[in-house]
Amino acid sequence: MTGVDGRILPQLGGIAYGSDYNPEQWPEAIWAEDARLMAEAGVNLVTVGVFSWARLQPGPGTLTAGWLDRVLDLLAGAGIQADLATATASPPAWLVAEHPEILPVTADGRRLGFGARQSYCPSAPAYRAAAADLAGRVAERYAQHPAVAMWHIGNEYGCHVPACYCEQSAAAFRRWLQARYGGLGELNEAWGGAVWSQDYTSWDQIGPPRTAPTFGNPAQQLDFARFSSAELLACYRAERAALAAHRVSQPVTTNFMGLFRPVDQFRWSADLDVISVDSYPDPADPEAHLISAMACDLTRSVGGGRPWLLMEQSPSAVNWRAVNVPKAPGQFRALSLQAVARGADAVLSFQWRAAATGAEKFHSGMLPHAGTDSRVWRDVVGLGASLRRLAPVAGRLVPADVAVLLDWENWWALELDSHPTSHLHLTELLGELYRPLLHGGVTADFAHPESDLSGYRLVLVPALYLVSDAGADNVRRFVSAGGTAVITFFSGIVDPRDRVRLGGYPAPWCDLLGLRVEALAPLPPGQAVRLDGPASAAGAAGRLWQDVISLRGATPLLTFGAGHLAGEAAATRHGHGQGEALYLGTLPDRGTLGRLVQRACQHAGVDLRTDLPPGVEAVRRGEYLFLISHLDRPAGIELGSKHFDLLTSAMVGPRAVLAPRDVLVLARGNGPS
Ligand code: GAL
Ligand code: ZN
Repeated sequence: MTGVDGRILPQLGGIAYGSDYNPEQWPEAIWAEDARLMAEAGVNLVTVGVFSWARLQPGPGTLTAGWLDRVLDLLAGAGIQADLATATASPPAWLVAEHPEILPVTADGRRLGFGARQSYCPSAPAYRAAAADLAGRVAERYAQHPAVAMWHIGNEYGCHVPACYCEQSAAAFRRWLQARYGGLGELNEAWGGAVWSQDYTSWDQIGPPRTAPTFGNPAQQLDFARFSSAELLACYRAERAALAAHRVSQPVTTNFMGLFRPVDQFRWSADLDVISVDSYPDPADPEAHLISAMACDLTRSVGGGRPWLLMEQSPSAVNWRAVNVPKAPGQFRALSLQAVARGADAVLSFQWRAAATGAEKFHSGMLPHAGTDSRVWRDVVGLGASLRRLAPVAGRLVPADVAVLLDWENWWALELDSHPTSHLHLTELLGELYRPLLHGGVTADFAHPESDLSGYRLVLVPALYLVSDAGADNVRRFVSAGGTAVITFFSGIVDPRDRVRLGGYPAPWCDLLGLRVEALAPLPPGQAVRLDGPASAAGAAGRLWQDVISLRGATPLLTFGAGHLAGEAAATRHGHGQGEALYLGTLPDRGTLGRLVQRACQHAGVDLRTDLPPGVEAVRRGEYLFLISHLDRPAGIELGSKHFDLLTSAMVGPRAVLAPRDVLVLARGNGPS
């Protein structure tokens, strides 16, 4: 499917453009100006009501909706669609006063107060009931409203309160454990109760993994992470059911947060009609575009490849970092078009008007404090014009030959304490493997280890510490059938109960890799070990990790050049069935890793470009090739022949010079079909 069928909001006729819109923070007298300026910018979709609970429902059993009627009517009149929120993201003071037990409790037993946002325990029956009640009332009133194009349940589930440790949560956790294990004997076995005298003799003895004298039980912590993601999903589902009860027909979503550890997006995705994401890379980070590219690819992957929404980003600075650097000229546009290149059919920001009051008043808005005579506003209008030109791209799919395996259960288990090193962070390792792909113009999906891998040529397996038997078999079958896999250190170590798979690491893949890791020998921060061998170049070094590898058929690509493992294999390759499996027993420096990934791509028949200036991204979507510069200087690029640029309607090539942070969207042939 590459045609227009895949469009998520076909009535918008192209790429949606807009923001969160919080008119309740402003006098009604300026709403008409909002609508006028939205039209000027080309805004056609706004998210309304995310934090409106207190204004919509000043007490139980009510809906003071007159103001929202007027907002939605105004939008409908201006031809702007609404992504209408259920307004449940932040419970109001009256609900907290009536039900103080909904306030969340931290692992060390502190009850968090009211006065920020998201002050609720996901397991609190009073919160769930009140949220479902409000969602139902909003749906009842607006399900048929002409402005409503889609529904936005909650907001950024788990952002501030990923888990709660109160007594209600403890009770819910026990029920969840009973359903999972059936009997206490099974639970004691799964949790390794024999260690440190942790056997339970009654269910009421079990609690969430509260702050304890030292390292807590890892299997308990892992189950609590599973439970906490499931509890948040239950909150979402309760509201979704309330919408369904009022025959809501529009697509329903909630906004994920990219590579955010608490919420297992693969488990949630079936409950969302369309996937959306909030993406806030730090403009001060020279690799901001790498972080956002991963978030885009993840969001597309979670939705099975379908187009998705960039629900939030910042037009310029945010307010919540220690130092909030504004976006550089062109950066808002380049990152927005990056999202479109990677499959987004909507580019929304937080928020429309920069707030004058409250905690977010120094967060940028599309309409800044300075008003329309400002660079931000001119950029906002300019981006609207660019997005209109990209209408033919809407609904197109993004092909990917490479999959990076990602499993939240692994992520939770991997980053528990009492491990060989506490310096192994999954997102950092993902970034290391992803960088050479980005630099080579190779698009990757993220895939669950048990998902169908047959459509990929190359599969990367970064620190898949926890893997099920099914996941391990899946990777082995992929390679047998002719695929190429790159597996890193600390993969295949434990089963889903966090129990070590014995016999040498990585037990399920020793045959696949043609080796056996006898021991794990991480490196202290700052320490690097020289790497030799056929895949090394001058200065090659490994850091973070060393595996003690004994070869069982694999060929070394790198060897340790010094230290107690000098001469031993550090990275290997091994043919298996029709395919090949590479193993990394250390984290090579960027150049060396880049060459290894390049080698794997070549072997897999994946086209990795070596001609892209670093900082210029190349992504295919449908029949269009996006070339996006994230550089603050011009960048020359060979296009091979002349191409039609959708953004300017000019023919460009065979050589093009991209202005700083400029973008080309090249169609095959002479123009859009
Ligand atoms: C998100 C949130 C928005 C806004 C934004 C600011 O986390 O969903 O409501 O607060 O951050 O960057
Ligand atoms: Zn709780």
